[in-house]
Amino acid sequence: EDPRLKAITSSIRVVPDFPKPGIMFNDITTLLLQPKVFKDVIDMFVERYKGMRIHAVAGIEARGFIFGPPVALAIEAKFIPLRKPKKLPGEVISEKYVLEYGKDCLEMHVGALEAHERVLIIDDFVATGGTLSAAIRLIERAGGEVVECACLLGLPKFKVRTSPLFQKISLIYIRYH
Ligand code: PRP
Ligand code: MG
Repeated sequence: EDPRLKAITSSIRVVPDFPKPGIMFNDITTLLLQPKVFKDVIDMFVERYKGMRIHAVAGIEARGFIFGPPVALAIEAKFIPLRKPKKLPGEVISEKYVLEYGKDCLEMHVGALEAHERVLIIDDFVATGGTLSAAIRLIERAGGEVVECACLLGLPKFKVRTSPLFQKISLIYIRYH
């Protein structure tokens, strides 16, 4: 096991019943307060993806905007924000999805990606996989190739081993609660 993992896992605060009763909220803001731990997370992503000929890192609003850009810079890829609805000023394509606590939608600017570009999708965690699935659909509709989806953690609600989406996901760790 990677020696950096212990500090990473303990730096994430778990808040019960937020934003709704029954939801265990994984709060990564506590991780960001520890620069060494934050750097370890970025380094672990960079170690995996440098040399994989990634043209673009697509970060999912909001927390994929925290981990995505430093990885994009380090692997010399462009950064594409996948935004919540009505935030992007140009022409967009959109994909709706269902979340644990509601519905949402992701949008991407037309022209951000060129056909056949190799894309890494980054977010903080995967629960049901609804958000990542929408992001994959956006990239593929734009003609891009999703090399992998990288998240800090995966939650057991997301049936990692039984979902076909699992083939495309790389996690730093899985949290079983
Ligand atoms: C959280 C998290 C992931 C998503 C995972 O984002 O940051 O993006 O949920 O859930 P899923 O696998 O079930 O789709 P959220 O939409 O709550 O908002 P935020 O990132 O904008 O804070
Ligand atoms: Mg999110």
